[in-house]
Amino acid sequence: MNKKLEKAINTQINFEIESAFIYLAMKNYIETLSLDGFVNWFDIQFQEEMAHAQKFMDFVNNLGGRVEITNWESPKNEYKSILEVLETSLGHEKEVTRRIHNLMNLAEEEKDYPTISLLHWYVDEQVKEEDNFSRLIEKVKLVKDAGLYILDKELESRTFVPINPEK
Ligand code: FEO
Repeated sequence: MNKKLEKAINTQINFEIESAFIYLAMKNYIETLSLDGFVNWFDIQFQEEMAHAQKFMDFVNNLGGRVEITNWESPKNEYKSILEVLETSLGHEKEVTRRIHNLMNLAEEEKDYPTISLLHWYVDEQVKEEDNFSRLIEKVKLVKDAGLYILDKELESRTFVPINPEK
């Protein structure tokens, strides 16, 4: 496997795992607000980030590369409100998108077609990730207090959808 890409993908694997733990910390902060729907939603978000990391790990392993797990920063555990959690999440997803696009630039420079093909999935996924948080922020602003309870009920129905290995 291309060594430059192996190194860059390893960095991203660890950033996806770091993302998972950021959302896990958020989920546990939200537990203190007793917003069970948001707790469920962020639990799914945690699982999705681990699935993003796993998809990259499978790719590296399938190509005979080496996955290296590193340390990462402790996530933030305290927030002031659900809105702060969501705005922080959107900012984080924009950073993920920036990193995925940089990876795509590198894969294109290196003419590494398998990595380019893989990264198309992540480029599309990031559009959804940013859209999810943008919409939630707008909804929370709209519904404020009374409506928050109704929105919370809606979020309880989110389920984990495993990544389709055929795509
Ligand atoms: Fe794995 Fe939320 O990006």
